[in-house]
Amino acid sequence: MSPRAAVILAAGQGTRMKSPRPKVLHPVGGRALIDHAIDLAQGLNCERIVVVLGKDAGAIRDHVAARLGEGAIAVQDPPLGTGHAVLAAKDALADFDGDVVVTYGDSALLTPEALAPIFALRDAGADLAVLGFDATDPAPYGRLLLGLHGVLQRIVETKDANEEQLKITACNSGVIAAPARLLFELLGKVGNHNAKGEYYLTDVVGLAVESGKSVRAALIDESHFLGVNSQAELAVAEAAFQRRGRAALMEGGVTLIAPETVQLAWDTRIAAGVTVEPNVVFAPGVTVESGALIRSFSHLEGARVRSGAIVGPFARLRPGADIGEDAHIGNFVEVKKVAVGKGAKANHLAYLGDGTVGAGANIGAGTIFCNYDGFDKNDTHIGENAFIGSNTALVAPVRVGAGAYTGSGSVITKDVAPDALAVARGRQVEKPGWAAGFRSRKLAERAARK
Ligand code: UD1
Ligand code: MG
Repeated sequence: MSPRAAVILAAGQGTRMKSPRPKVLHPVGGRALIDHAIDLAQGLNCERIVVVLGKDAGAIRDHVAARLGEGAIAVQDPPLGTGHAVLAAKDALADFDGDVVVTYGDSALLTPEALAPIFALRDAGADLAVLGFDATDPAPYGRLLLGLHGVLQRIVETKDANEEQLKITACNSGVIAAPARLLFELLGKVGNHNAKGEYYLTDVVGLAVESGKSVRAALIDESHFLGVNSQAELAVAEAAFQRRGRAALMEGGVTLIAPETVQLAWDTRIAAGVTVEPNVVFAPGVTVESGALIRSFSHLEGARVRSGAIVGPFARLRPGADIGEDAHIGNFVEVKKVAVGKGAKANHLAYLGDGTVGAGANIGAGTIFCNYDGFDKNDTHIGENAFIGSNTALVAPVRVGAGAYTGSGSVITKDVAPDALAVARGRQVEKPGWAAGFRSRKLAERAARK
């Protein structure tokens, strides 16, 4: 396999999104479109990746530079077409001798496996390989003028096509693979005498054929090419991404009781043997280990749930929540940056933020880790098998020793020794008969007023 480089085209304006946010920074599966495109390039083992951006790419530029470095950015100014856009990457790849694969920055559903057929064509001797599909509605696409056995003669854009050509349903996806030298040489010859007055990348096909090169196309399923141009298309891409993710989980042995109600992120990892009840959201960064149960209406992000743990219903796990084996996190419990030990339980109405909960500890309803003083976050540590009485406020930094108890309603501001009981609340005062006396006094007052 020759070395590979990717050129990702993203200099288009994306105006149809009608959003102040640049198109390729919109997320699918909780990940920006441009990151999906970069993931694809990395998944194809591209040793070089060049992202072609417009002049005022602002936030996209920062985003790409943060991930790949400034060297990965090429600027196309002004945007004069897809061929012109690929040429903008020429300098960045001047010293590169291998295959270039051109992709777009706005498609989240392409996988390295889907692109395998064009690399197979390259391996089989095609100089230029184009990925295409049979379109249900070919109108927005360039048409593939195919000969026998996937031999490609030319690509005609809709606006330039004659009536015969408009009937063709085999369409160009925009993904092309070719040796860098050949591709840039051909692009140097591409003109803009066409309906749009643009420099078309697709014209390299006809030029290659004219110079005796072999060009082949591979057609794959249309579902791989859900490009995003509008908010509605973004939602369609999201839905397709979710369907694919859920199917993969079920294929991997995960039980989804109502799959269509479970929202996944691009990196959700759920092991075989996990059950997910209806209406659960997995934001990015979640790992769930075998045998865990995620109950309805829970929201998880940046969290790990270990085997046998039960989370929810109505639980919120925020980044850094690490729920230990067989632990229980119940309804209306929020956990952030806390490692909850094996078998520990926080079953109702609590906030556990910053710290640790030892194995076997029991956190009563209404417990709050008071972790924030308006400036800094402070840790709370609960020892193994400790018992935190209901409605305890633990004012961090604070430690409760192993096996210790805190009395219900306590405000714990000092460390509690192992096996001790800490009670920090007003003592109960009882006045016998007070209520009866109060009532008769009040009733007498009322009668006097009438
Ligand atoms: C292009 C293809 C068409 C194909 C279709 C698939 C050409 C001439 N046509 O058409 O055959 O069926 O994609 O979706 O290649 N871009 C730049 N700079 C530019 C123009 C575009 O970076 O000057 C980028 C866009 O941001 C986008 C991609 O290239 O990511 C495709 O551009 P778009 O305008 O959507 O091309 P189409 O006309 O749809
Ligand atoms: Mg397009």
